[in-house]
Amino acid sequence: MRLSSRYRYFDTKVPEILSWARGGVINMAGGIPDPAAIPPSIGDIAMDVIRQHSDKAFQYGDTQGLLELRREITRFKGFGDPDGVVVTVGSQEGLDIIGKTFIGPQDTVAVEDPTYFVALPILKTYSHSVVSIPIREGGLDMDKLEETARSGLRLLYLMPSIQNPTGRVMPLDERKAVLELAEKYDFHIVEDDPYSSLSMTPLPPSMAQLDPYRVLHLSTFSKIIAPGLRVGFIITTKEASNALINVKSATTISTPPLSQLIAAEFLKRGLIRESIDRARQLYWSKLTVISTAVREAGLEFQEPVGGFFIWLNTGIDADALLREALKLGVAFMPGRYFSPSGSFSTWIRISASQVTIEEGRLGVKRLANAIQSLKH
Ligand SMILES: Cc1ncc(COP(=O)(O)O)c(C=O)c1O
Repeated sequence: MRLSSRYRYFDTKVPEILSWARGGVINMAGGIPDPAAIPPSIGDIAMDVIRQHSDKAFQYGDTQGLLELRREITRFKGFGDPDGVVVTVGSQEGLDIIGKTFIGPQDTVAVEDPTYFVALPILKTYSHSVVSIPIREGGLDMDKLEETARSGLRLLYLMPSIQNPTGRVMPLDERKAVLELAEKYDFHIVEDDPYSSLSMTPLPPSMAQLDPYRVLHLSTFSKIIAPGLRVGFIITTKEASNALINVKSATTISTPPLSQLIAAEFLKRGLIRESIDRARQLYWSKLTVISTAVREAGLEFQEPVGGFFIWLNTGIDADALLREALKLGVAFMPGRYFSPSGSFSTWIRISASQVTIEEGRLGVKRLANAIQSLKH
């Protein structure tokens, strides 16, 4: 079978790693939401929507997204205008249509290093030049960003509020400094934001609030309502949304109206705050236990403020460690999968999303044992 040359970007081996986390293996690799975080009321709302709106629910929808949902989204987020919102099939489709709309093959795109591994094949599909900007102890490498911008940068993909995989929150002064560079060198920023609602501490304003023209805000209900709805959204200017709508109409035509109606009804009934609080507490209770276990194991890691993940340095090759850890019954994601430059070979991402508290504690113990057995 002859596959396209771009297929190699998608052949990441990540699905293979996720499939190893079966049969007694504690799965700290994946980022799938805990079923207990999915609000029980969603089923009743779905039934009500089907009974009351079957005409709309099973017809093609408006490409931009249902107006009532776009209104609810701006009310929930506290910024943006419904005219500038595009509802997408998860934030994943959002990034894909942003890529198609804004990036030409010769345009340079920059990403944090490490970054969300699924963003890489999407961005590489549209740009031949994806440059990595290292995240260091002191934050994003601004010198490298400026050097890249000076030679012509089209788009910068960032996760400023609880980054995947590091859990990092970009401080306000750094957000402003990045925006100054965007203004000076005329590039746009995609602010991917699936996890900010799961923060235990107040976060700086989103970059889109600081500069709605430069920043396309990409977000989702996957982690705070239900991933199976496949409802995400982009908040941007009216002008950019018009361009995105043209592209979306040739991509998925519309986000399924049934899902949009369910999400709109959920928000209208005022259930989102309760749903966020439950999800945030659930993940935080697991993260705190896992962090304590990691600290007790003497491993170097970034203290999380919320979300799903802990990013830690094991000091040994993470691929070898994964083989050993699987034998002992725990799976995680090796750091190099998140790195466009192939760095972070001794770092790993462990996820609290799919494990129970007990499994989390035991998983870290197994991980620590695997590290010990490779060190000796
Ligand atoms: C940073 C980031 N962006 C996007 C997504 C995809 O989310 P969605 O379900 O909205 O497509 C995820 C999911 O894990 C993510 O972690």
